[in-house]
Formats: sequence, structure tokens, C-alpha cells
Amino acid sequence: MHANRRAFCTQKYIGFFDSGIGGLTLLAECVRRMPEERFIYLGDNDRAPYGNRPQREIKEFVFQGFSLLSAYPLKGGVIACNTATAVAAEALRETVPFPVLGVEPAVRPALLSGAERVLVLATRATVSSPRFAALCARCGGRVFAYAPEHLARAIEEHIFTPEEIDLRRHLPRLRCDAVVLGCTHYIFLRREIAAFYGCRTYDGNEGTAKRLASVVRAGSGRGADFGRADHFAKNTNICSKIDKKTLKNSVIFLGSAKNKNKKVFLSLF
Ligand code: DGL
Repeated sequence: MHANRRAFCTQKYIGFFDSGIGGLTLLAECVRRMPEERFIYLGDNDRAPYGNRPQREIKEFVFQGFSLLSAYPLKGGVIACNTATAVAAEALRETVPFPVLGVEPAVRPALLSGAERVLVLATRATVSSPRFAALCARCGGRVFAYAPEHLARAIEEHIFTPEEIDLRRHLPRLRCDAVVLGCTHYIFLRREIAAFYGCRTYDGNEGTAKRLASVVRAGSGRGADFGRADHFAKNTNICSKIDKKTLKNSVIFLGSAKNKNKKVFLSLF
């Protein structure tokens, strides 16, 4: 067998899945923390957004996505999408032979900041899921949620022209003192949403990336606790500068929007 081919076969990847571009900010955070790892990113951009679709359909799409990712040898999977995590993470974990980490709205850090009124922005499917209800129940009564019907689509379509997104058409004027970005697409508008509500925003990227790094370093066996996103996982080193070659080689992009996703990803460095 050719040497490169053999290297490819023994290399194990971390597979990322999102409905589209949303998971790219999490991927970037993970690459910064683990520049030595190899990642594969699949965005289902043609069928995004997922958030207003029936749960059965979302589940089916997530399974299809992971079946495509599984053509590569994977040491782990990341559902870089709150919607897909809420709907499909548990079922997926039952069926794939590698550990799967999901993302969920960073409600706890927002509450621990002392905020009295925490607004969670997330898709309809996330907000209406039993998993989200359980998360809110664990966090007491200071949390309320709003699901913008078309914001994820607007971000997907205007990622290179974000100034064309008028947040007044997507978000209600509500009084709150912390906003949780419970959809990975919204993270692209982190600054604009913070300015719109005049308060701090929280997202799960840092916690999820730390968790992934510590699990991968611990050996990421099937027995490793790869389950919930942990917004308080121990700190790991973050690489502030990654050379272009490392960056280019660290991720394989799959799917019909692979060029768009790669371009968005590279713009994050
Ligand atoms: N990025 C996804 C999330 O975190 C889903 C957005 C969508 O496809 O509706 O929820």
C-alpha cells in the first residue's frame, strides 16, 4: 500500500456535523485548542435550516450525516448544532461505534454570572424539546426562551453580507440581562445581538471545545464521558496563532457546500 494511503488509513478523525455553517465557530475553537488533531466537517447546507422541521426529519438527517462521516475512521463525533443535539444525540449514541459530544445552550454560565433574566435564543425544535425543558428545570425560573423563525436561514444566506440582516425583524425587544446563543448559527452575530439587547451573550463553544480536548487527551474510549456539553470543563491551552499550512491540513470539508464552509471557516482565523 502507498505510504500516504496507509497514513490516511491509520489517522483517526473527529467528525463534526451541523445543518450548515453554524458549527464552524465551534470547529474553529476546537482547532485552536487541538491543532494536532484532524477534523472532518459536514454541513447539510442544502437542507438548512433544521430548526422548523419536524423532529423525525431532523433525526433522519442527522443519522444520514453521521453515516457519511463514518466513511472515515472516526475517534469521535461532535454534533455542532443545538437543534440536532436536542433531537438526535441520544439515539445517535446508541448506534455509532464512537463517542459523540453534543452542544446545548449555555444557560448555567449565564445564571452563574448573576443575571436575573436570562433570554435563550434557540430554534423552535430546540426550545420545544424535552431536553431543553429538562435543562431549564434544572436552572430555576430565571430563564425564558424565544425561537426566531427565520434568523438561522438569514445567517446561512448572508454570511458574507451580515450587514444585510436587520435584527429588528428577527428578535423581540425584551428586557433581559444575559442572552444565551442557543443555536450555533447565532454565534456569527454575537456582537450585534449583544448590542441589540445591551447585555452579555453566552454560548457553548468554549465549554464544548474544552470538554472535547480533555476527553480526546484522556484517550476518548467508548467508556469516556462524552455525553453532555460541559460549560465548566477544565482549561486547556489555546493556540492563538496557527500557521496556514496546519490550518489547511487540519480539516476535511464534505458535502455540496464544502467550499463555502471552508471559506467561512478560514475567515474565522
Ligand atoms: N445551528 C443549529 C443550532 O445550533 C441549527 C440551525 C438550523 O438549522 O435551524 O441549533
